[in-house]
Amino acid sequence: MVDQTAQTIVETERDYLLQNYARYPLILARGKGCYVYDLEGKRYLDFITGIGVNALGHAHPRIVKVIRDQAGLLIHTSNLYYHAYQGPLAKRLVEMSGLKRAFFCNSGTEAVEGAIKMAHSHGRAISSEKFEMIALDNSFHGRTIGALSITGQPKYRHDFEPLMPGVKFVKANDTAALEAAFSRNTAGIVLEMIQGEGGINPLSHEFVAKARALADQYNALLIADETQCGVGRPGTYFAYQRSTPVILPDVMVAAKPVACGLPLGFIIANDKAAAAIKPGMHGTTFGGNVLACRVALEFLDMLDELLPNIERIGGYFHVSMNEVARKHSVIKEVRGFGLMLGVELAVPGKQLVLDAMAEGLLINCTHDTVLRMLPPYIIGEKEVDQAVKTLSKLIAKLK
Ligand SMILES: Cc1ncc(COP(=O)(O)O)c(C=O)c1O
Repeated sequence: MVDQTAQTIVETERDYLLQNYARYPLILARGKGCYVYDLEGKRYLDFITGIGVNALGHAHPRIVKVIRDQAGLLIHTSNLYYHAYQGPLAKRLVEMSGLKRAFFCNSGTEAVEGAIKMAHSHGRAISSEKFEMIALDNSFHGRTIGALSITGQPKYRHDFEPLMPGVKFVKANDTAALEAAFSRNTAGIVLEMIQGEGGINPLSHEFVAKARALADQYNALLIADETQCGVGRPGTYFAYQRSTPVILPDVMVAAKPVACGLPLGFIIANDKAAAAIKPGMHGTTFGGNVLACRVALEFLDMLDELLPNIERIGGYFHVSMNEVARKHSVIKEVRGFGLMLGVELAVPGKQLVLDAMAEGLLINCTHDTVLRMLPPYIIGEKEVDQAVKTLSKLIAKLK
């Protein structure tokens, strides 16, 4: 590794990178388990995991072993050829999801983009006017033009308008508005079962059930974006599986934790949605490469054992934060499921994130006032207690 001081790292980025990120003043050098370490060796409890990616924490021995092993054999083949891991991974995800066919890509945005293409193609086969999409206020679906077009937050969109036409936004959990937005020209509706970037807002069962019924009535595809809320994080494989009875989407997209830090996204579709993508209509060079797929299979081998822990320890975290909330009225609400937790404050949370970092705890803040915690699936009560102690101390200082 190039031996650089903190100052040269920051200055080189300042001089040569696009200035699109506002990074925290922290340079990470390595990680182990639930902790990461900076250049000076200071330790941080990682409760954000690279925005919900490092599901098994850092340097998990089984992940390190398969990466080492596979890197020495074959990393990438393109999709010109078969390799041994895409099919088994697709089978696994199909069994987990209750859907039928998978497509692999490299990120959440790219998966969303593919799902939009699926909806457009599905609609176009019925009528040239059936291309409208319904999405929710405060949603976040990624940064490409298609994904931005269905992202219900003006701050991400306004510099890039005009975006894709035909998108209607509806207030989350407003079933009357949802009903009014549907028409025979609706090709698809996209929902995050628990909105992530928008402030950890779970959708109500009633609202999702209505979306399912309306999508059926108008022959539109119901697309679940599980990029942030899926793949074990909510305590079930996918967030739509939390409701009883389960409301199946036609299409589900996910990414972040599935390959424990390697870029991998996926689309899973039922037969009707999968039929919209015919040979030659979609593809990727990198998507579903050997290394990422093999790591994902290794991770999914461990996930069944982790789910009860996610549910239990997530509950413990939730209850502990509610106790803090009872003592401090600056906390408006604690929301989320499993290991996806949002703490809404009555004041902006940015400074608290920096103060937590100084105390050795990594979290972030979304939607200005919501502290967001996406810890690794391997945490125990000890780690939760440590995080809650730090948060409680910092929250007590808020006015
Ligand atoms: C719900 C949701 N969809 C899509 C994306 C975009 O994913 P990516 O950053 O991997 O492109 C995100 C990222 O945070 C997300 O939370």
